[in-house]
Amino acid sequence: MKILSVVGARPQFIKTSLLSRKLREDHDEHIIHTGQHYDHRLSQTFFEELNIPSPSFNLKVGSGTHGYQTAEMLKKLEALFVEQEPDLVIIYGDTNSTLAAALAASKLHIPIAHIEAGMRNFDRKKPEEINRILAGHAANYHFAPTKTAVQNLNNEGIKDNIWLVGDTQFDVLLKYKGIAEEKSNITEELALEKGGYYILTIHKSKNTDSARNLEDIIKTVSKVDFPIIFPVHPRTRKCIENYGLMHYLEGSKIRLIEPQGFYNFTKLLANSKKIITDSGGVQKEAYAYKVPCITMRKTEWVETVEEGWNIIADIHDEPSFLGTINNFEPQHPQKKFLGEGDTYLKITQIINNGFSE
Ligand code: UD1
Repeated sequence: MKILSVVGARPQFIKTSLLSRKLREDHDEHIIHTGQHYDHRLSQTFFEELNIPSPSFNLKVGSGTHGYQTAEMLKKLEALFVEQEPDLVIIYGDTNSTLAAALAASKLHIPIAHIEAGMRNFDRKKPEEINRILAGHAANYHFAPTKTAVQNLNNEGIKDNIWLVGDTQFDVLLKYKGIAEEKSNITEELALEKGGYYILTIHKSKNTDSARNLEDIIKTVSKVDFPIIFPVHPRTRKCIENYGLMHYLEGSKIRLIEPQGFYNFTKLLANSKKIITDSGGVQKEAYAYKVPCITMRKTEWVETVEEGWNIIADIHDEPSFLGTINNFEPQHPQKKFLGEGDTYLKITQIINNGFSE
């Protein structure tokens, strides 16, 4: 089969890494990079460290408003699909790249396989929630990471061609933890002790594009009396500056660092004491490395919360938010709800069997 895998943003590079290489053993698989993420640290680094096959096509779409960015991708993907005539298009997760590929392929009647299907957090103000609902309904084959995801699809009337396979990002996290530990010197460079710091990440538009939300987060986190390492997404840095929030960080225990590549970020996370985040991927990484996670939004990874390894914080209630950061401790051992690290093998087998059971 001729398979085109469409990726564009940081977590999608991770999700495709093992699967693309495995599919190439039996298929003519190519990666299309939409160019949604273009900074070296958000893109190329991941291809190098995870040994991801180079994209055969780069659409170089870049940043813009949601409508502009999605439309640019849609036009370019449609032209490419017409030219390449793939038998299958693979899409990942919930970014604007996912939605654009889903629209382009479905209008051309090209079968679509959606990886990470069925995730919902029921917050329609989040662009990712709209992206994954629409992409899911355009897709023909649904690879769900969790039982909850299968249930969500069923509740929306999607009943067929769903496979509960686990999570492709979790595969990569398990495989590369030891490698990252060995290859990265980041904790030494930053003089960090294991368990001697928290990690903070903020990049979701709901938090960055609202001055109130971002100020509430930065103000509270700056009062935490424990070292915090904060790798800053370029969007977030701009917003902190534009909203005049830098003064909260001065004199706090928060240390800003540049966005990190996969090895460095993995090592930083795996050795941290707690993680404070608004990212979906980072919640999974925290779980994979058994680090308590405090999430600053509704989550689609509800099992992490049910198992007690993740807690949802109210960013607008400072005493409660601060208390959660200071006191949250998981009470129970984990269950392996994201699979055993072999999701990419299961997906490959299902594709090789022509999507029959
Ligand atoms: C996107 C995804 C989000 C995912 C995240 C992973 C959507 C709607 N959001 O968010 O779901 O969790 O990727 O990191 O698709 N920028 C740069 N350099 C880059 C890319 C972006 O500086 O290489 C800056 C630009 O100012 C840009 C802003 O970041 O406007 C936002 O980028 P965008 O691609 O729109 O979304 P992300 O916030 O990265």
